[in-house]
Amino acid sequence: MDKKNIVAGNWKMNKTPLEGKRFIREVKSIIKDIHCTEIIFFPAFTGLFDTQLNNPFHLGAQNCHWETSGAFTGEISIEMLNECEVEYILVGHSERRQLFNETDAVINKKIRSIQSSKLKPILCVGETIDDRKSGLTKDFLKGQLVKNLEGIDSIENFIIAYEPIWAIGTGETANKEQIYNAHSYIKSILKKLYPNKNNCPILYGGSVNTKNAKDLIQISGVDGFLIGGASLDKDSFTSIVRDVENFRR
Ligand code: PGA
Repeated sequence: MDKKNIVAGNWKMNKTPLEGKRFIREVKSIIKDIHCTEIIFFPAFTGLFDTQLNNPFHLGAQNCHWETSGAFTGEISIEMLNECEVEYILVGHSERRQLFNETDAVINKKIRSIQSSKLKPILCVGETIDDRKSGLTKDFLKGQLVKNLEGIDSIENFIIAYEPIWAIGTGETANKEQIYNAHSYIKSILKKLYPNKNNCPILYGGSVNTKNAKDLIQISGVDGFLIGGASLDKDSFTSIVRDVENFRR
């Protein structure tokens, strides 16, 4: 079978450890027959421990520090995540960039550290509404990709998420043409940066919900979704997983 589509649920600062475990149990019991889709849960750090998952379910962390250990109060190392059987780490989410002042240089450090572990980064990129209105979307995306991937010699285990900032948590989804153009452009940049291996999955994120998922997954170049709000409810999350799965079958 060719590459699977991916549905990733970013819970952000929601769900206690017990709520998260119950949620995963419920989701698993609703969708037992998934073969063409990879599902990744992103609980808060406290929900990562003792959450063993098997295919097609995988575990991701919302953040990490780039150092292996030391005096970094409040931070979590990649090794700690690895011991929780985490496979993926979100990097460069716009909330980290905007609310926690993560710069492209910091994101680059995190990606370098993740790359030297066996975990895999999901790098989020996306423009602000001002960039889009001023026709600067491409420049902005290129700038983020080039700076975030500086010194990274292979993106073989990477996932990229295109998340226009103005569509995150706003109920306003990018339209088909905007998504197609952004994904094609990201692909073209990756091809230039990595002429040999550049076919990492590109997810769309930004107000994906049960009403639009069926249409959005059909856009050429969309390999799945990174979902915030709609990933918190078992019915909406599993309905989106089914739409993605059925599209592939
Ligand atoms: P949203 O969030 O689906 O609630 O818009 C997406 C994200 O932040 O990844």
